[in-house]
Amino acid sequence: MATVNDNYLKLKAGYLFPEIARRVNAFAQANPDAPIIRLGIGDVTEPLPEACRQAMIKAVEDMGDRSLFKGYGPEQGYEWLREKIAKHDFQARGCEIDASEIFVSDGSKCDTGNILEIFGHDNTIAVTDPVYPVYVDTNVMAGNTGEANDRGEYAGLVYLPISAENNFTAEIPSQKVDLVYLCFPNNPTGAVATKEYLKAWVDYAKANGTIIFFDAAYEAYVTDESLPRSIYEIEGARDCAIEFRSFSKNAGFTGTRCALTVVPKTLTAKASDGSDVELWKLWNRRQSTKFNGVSYIVQRGAEAVYSEEGQAQIKTLVNFYLENAKIIREQLTAAGLSVYGGVNAPYVWVKTPNGLSSWDFFDKLLNVCNVVGTPGSGFGAAGEGYFRISAFNSRENVVEAMKRITAKF
Ligand code: MLT
Repeated sequence: MATVNDNYLKLKAGYLFPEIARRVNAFAQANPDAPIIRLGIGDVTEPLPEACRQAMIKAVEDMGDRSLFKGYGPEQGYEWLREKIAKHDFQARGCEIDASEIFVSDGSKCDTGNILEIFGHDNTIAVTDPVYPVYVDTNVMAGNTGEANDRGEYAGLVYLPISAENNFTAEIPSQKVDLVYLCFPNNPTGAVATKEYLKAWVDYAKANGTIIFFDAAYEAYVTDESLPRSIYEIEGARDCAIEFRSFSKNAGFTGTRCALTVVPKTLTAKASDGSDVELWKLWNRRQSTKFNGVSYIVQRGAEAVYSEEGQAQIKTLVNFYLENAKIIREQLTAAGLSVYGGVNAPYVWVKTPNGLSSWDFFDKLLNVCNVVGTPGSGFGAAGEGYFRISAFNSRENVVEAMKRITAKF
């Protein structure tokens, strides 16, 4: 008789966003005329930049020309794309990252989960609380945790609480951890990290042999030039950090799929015999075996992000969503709510009014205002009593949603 991976049975609930979609669909079925506005999942709404579209159209034409046609591409991504990423995203900001250290993929969500395959099961793993649920759930699936307690905290994980008291930036742990997930600009709280803060983590990681998983999916939203956009802006990070990036939130590729992971060749971890192993080699082996690369057409679209027009167009796109975030922040603050994030980030993190639980506020907002957000408790126990509002929507919908919310709360 076949058996299942029992670790899946430890998962507390369905994945957060499908669970929200299920509740919203049930509401929509019961209330077919309700004008629902979705500010829940961080999915983009505005069209792909023109430069990307034109590049993809041209790439489709290439595929119809025998001399330009492409079959399997390199599993690591085409070199012409990796070179542009290395130059614009890293070297231009003083980061010593080479194109050969970049792996193009179909998403940061997949990569942040898949990366666990090249690590042992005996690592001590730290996550912030609240946190992007993928980091926790993929560790549960991989068998890196025990069972969850009543608060939904899994045995074996180290939870680093983040709250208004620490500006939603975790304290450096007093204990030694082997792997730690950091996400800046932060999903879900919209918090940002200063260079000094990241340096403290890099120093800690180097002193303890820790590997930092740095999720920079929202780096394009950092408009304050004093703030780092990559962990490799911090000296020494090449020796302790893997960075995840995406074209989803800067260029609207959530449906198109393109991302990248940086694994510096200087990065090592221990084998069970005590020897140092290059993580680049393991990730390269993993990707060459289990992944056949992102489509040529999509990679050409991603390449166009780095053209002059592409750069201008993604700036306009990011500024559009940032303006939405500003409207959300200002309107909710004026209504007397405690509001965080949304400045160098597309997410606004709100304290629920009148002591409502996160899910009670979710239900109220859906039923009374027909507005969908994300309950903070879905990101971890410490998110209870908070609510995340995404700036990814049309201006009209954001303005209308704020009108409805501020009229009722
Ligand atoms: C979110 O809403 O947190 C995002 O959809 C995360 C993601 O891009 O997977």
